[in-house]
Amino acid sequence: MPIARVTRRVHFSAGHRLHNPDLSDETNRDTYGLCNNPTGHGHNYDVEVTVEGEVDPETGYVMDLKRLKLLLETKVLSDVDHANLNVDVDWLAGVIPTTENLAVAIWRRLENGLPGVNLFAVRLWETDRNSVEYRGQ
Ligand code: NI
Repeated sequence: MPIARVTRRVHFSAGHRLHNPDLSDETNRDTYGLCNNPTGHGHNYDVEVTVEGEVDPETGYVMDLKRLKLLLETKVLSDVDHANLNVDVDWLAGVIPTTENLAVAIWRRLENGLPGVNLFAVRLWETDRNSVEYRGQ
């Protein structure tokens, strides 16, 4: 059976502040610059989730993308859209909300909820120029 990868892209808007409480204020400013602004700032994020699996000979699908969209909405978007990522989201507690850390956290939200396919990649776009891809390692 052929193996293929399918990708769903979704969008959310959220606020955050990059700050490590274990570091001094000066080191935080040096490390994160404007992203360390005490009152935070926002992004329009895009998430691309890619799953890999066999093309079902009956349906011609690897996975029904409506189902992937629903999973993303219930496990990720309902928590992060229009949220403050530093304080509003249980599964981001204690996480510095860099694009890298958010991509890993989104992967962990999704990895056990996929029927008969493997999660292949989570790519999180923080701006239209900056993205991070995580593949579960
Ligand atoms: Ni930012």
